[in-house]
Amino acid sequence: MNVKVEFSNVFRRNYDSRQRVVLNEGGARSSKSYSIAQLFIKKLFDEDKKNFLITRKTLPSLRITSYKLFIDLLKQYGVYENFTHNKTFRELRYKDNYLLFTSIDDSTKIQSTEFNYIWMEEAEEFTYDDFITLKTRLSGKKKEDEINQIFLAYNPKKQFSYINKQLKQDKDTDYIHSTYKDNPFLDNDYIQLLQDLREQNYEYYRIFALGEYADLDSLIYHNIRLINLETYPESYDYTIYGLDFGWNNPTALLEINVKDRRIYLKEKIYRSRMQDDDLISLMNELNISNNDEIYCDCAEPDKIEKLRLAGYNVFEADKDVKLGIDFVRQTEIYTCHENVNLNKEREEYVFKKRRDGLVMDEPVKMNDHLMDALRYGLYTKSKEAEPGIRVL
Ligand SMILES: Nc1ncnc2c1ncn2[C@@H]1O[C@H](COP(=O)(O)OP(=O)(O)OP(=O)(O)O)[C@@H](O)[C@H]1O
Ligand SMILES: [Mg+2]
Repeated sequence: MNVKVEFSNVFRRNYDSRQRVVLNEGGARSSKSYSIAQLFIKKLFDEDKKNFLITRKTLPSLRITSYKLFIDLLKQYGVYENFTHNKTFRELRYKDNYLLFTSIDDSTKIQSTEFNYIWMEEAEEFTYDDFITLKTRLSGKKKEDEINQIFLAYNPKKQFSYINKQLKQDKDTDYIHSTYKDNPFLDNDYIQLLQDLREQNYEYYRIFALGEYADLDSLIYHNIRLINLETYPESYDYTIYGLDFGWNNPTALLEINVKDRRIYLKEKIYRSRMQDDDLISLMNELNISNNDEIYCDCAEPDKIEKLRLAGYNVFEADKDVKLGIDFVRQTEIYTCHENVNLNKEREEYVFKKRRDGLVMDEPVKMNDHLMDALRYGLYTKSKEAEPGIRVL
């Protein structure tokens, strides 16, 4: 490797751990995922005849998180070419080492292999049974002085999860706690965002800045239900889009399908640092129709104009936050497992809350890009109706 590889102390603590179960509990962006990915890469080079598993509860979420991160890191370090990569089965091989990426529902694949190292990404999404299934697969051959290990990475969102209730009492468990302060690679804007959470919602701040358990009881949307994509209707009465522009934050495009007044969501774009031309070519690639209405963040008139010139049917969204949220909350909305970013935002989209407990009408400004796109689309469209008549 001729690239400079830098490590945080989270890497070092995982590397030094001699326990079978290693809990990585911590706030947002504390370098948990990155460090475990680096550790697995190091082990792939240092050890041989080892089987590795990187897993997350669902496949769509695994694909865009750990799988993507791992492959990107191999490329960044200039070592990807040394691996045989079977993209169909999501397998990597290096010398006698084998690495599989799969979700927990892929039980045949998991049951048929004996692993030495397992990484459970966003481990609070799993059940205790899932964990036990994985732990029993930690039976790969090893030298006498080596240990097979399972690493869990998560934000402490669920006080009553199997991790907090059960695993922490186990004797073979190591506990590594981290926050953004352990990550020297974060930019100042993000650190400021985390610190600002303190005044917006203290529970949110505790989870994401301090990495401590707290109850997010001021969740905004309880009405968005998770179903399987296969159970979405085959056709819709009509489709609109919501579009939120970003730069450091992602630009988020959401497809909002309406059928019998029910809403079926599909996230289409979620990407940071997109130039206007990139956005337009991606929308062309995604076959976004020139007829469907797209409701956009009106703070960016130049971008809206560019989309209009490119042939898109764009409108400025009504950005009244309170009325918009009230409307969205009254609507029957469905999401599917493929909407990985939307589902995460939904779980973390909460109202601001004063320290005396009073819940405000405004959401915490954090991961709200698809949530905004949803409100722009649904609420602005609903206002087209005659007073008293609901369009949706
Ligand atoms: N060793 C490193 N070298 C360079 N950059 C790093 C390193 N570790 C972390 N980072 C940067 O910090 C960011 C956050 O790290 P990471 O995604 O691993 O945090 P996390 O603890 O998994 O966060 P979350 O709880 O939100 O999943 C990464 O996207 C990367 O940009
Ligand atoms: Mg992570």
